[in-house]
Amino acid sequence: MLTDDYGREVSQVRVSLTDRCNFDCVYCHNEGLGDTRGPMAARDHEMDTDDVVRFLEVAREFDVEAVKFTGGEPMLRGDLAEIIRRTPDAMEVSMTTNGTFLPGRAEGLVEAGLDRVNVSQDAIDQESFAEITKSGAYEQVIEGVEAALSAGLDPVKLNMVVFEPTAGYVPEMVDHVAANDGLRLQLIEYMPELVGRPEWGIDIQRVHDWLAEQADRIETREMHDRKRYWISADDGDGEGMVEIVDPVENTDFCDNCHRVRVTHDGKLKGCLNRTDDLRPMGEMTKAEIRETFRETVANRVPYYGEYMIEEDGEWVLNEAYIDREPATESTMLAGDDD
Ligand code: 5AD
Ligand code: SF4
Repeated sequence: MLTDDYGREVSQVRVSLTDRCNFDCVYCHNEGLGDTRGPMAARDHEMDTDDVVRFLEVAREFDVEAVKFTGGEPMLRGDLAEIIRRTPDAMEVSMTTNGTFLPGRAEGLVEAGLDRVNVSQDAIDQESFAEITKSGAYEQVIEGVEAALSAGLDPVKLNMVVFEPTAGYVPEMVDHVAANDGLRLQLIEYMPELVGRPEWGIDIQRVHDWLAEQADRIETREMHDRKRYWISADDGDGEGMVEIVDPVENTDFCDNCHRVRVTHDGKLKGCLNRTDDLRPMGEMTKAEIRETFRETVANRVPYYGEYMIEEDGEWVLNEAYIDREPATESTMLAGDDD
């Protein structure tokens, strides 16, 4: 397994298959881009099936254990089942989806090798759901979650971004997962870096404290030092698991980050928050991808605590990174085709 200079092993990759999406969530940086009529072949700028598979085969050579497919909306890719089928067997396959295309397709994806799914669900009623996602597809998402459960993708994790417009629904969502078998809740701290609008941010510690009060028991996981809260349903019938993903200004989170990303247009990316560390794979051979992957890992830097440092209570860019050149074509080595 490749390890970066900060001792972080790269055990997972996160691959964006498209930037297109049929939703337009107010917190999303993608802004509902592109043609979203439904599943279709890769668009020109998107990696095609072979590009994705070639990259995954290289990642597996480096003992990467898991891949998460994301978007935009990954289910807008008509070749998703084929990509999953051709993913190296030793890799765990998961996907983050808005859920609208799961009815009718969940089973096929499981047959192809999908192991786990996260479904974005930011609210528990149609109206607030529509306000946040700019979509009327609430029922479809609920059906999508059902379809995932019936196809054996148990537990299904519901992703909820916690920010001003949703914070009030946290208790209802917690009760929803507690009362329904097979569901878990992942509360995701709103990342203003991705969209602007810092005024939407909330103090995530308050959510931790509230959950700790409600919880029957709390577990701390090694990865990201993340806490799991087990909470009973309001009517006492059932128990649910809730996790918080709180990366913002969190140095522990960055210290425990084991992921390399691939953008929909096939660029390797060492950190979610950076745009100056992209390395295009383009038409590369496997040997070239190997080299570029090594280079991406070698250049990985924890964002909070290293790339950004805290000075007098404010996060500022570390001088050491200011004059760094972004990766260019010339930084990539040529190699034999295989
Ligand atoms: N802050 C936090 N999470 C976000 N997501 C998208 N934009 C943001 C943001 N600004 C997450 C949502 C969604 C997943 C695809 O990405 O959790 O479920
Ligand atoms: Fe963005 Fe996901 Fe919402 Fe689509 S469903 S707009 S990709 S957050």
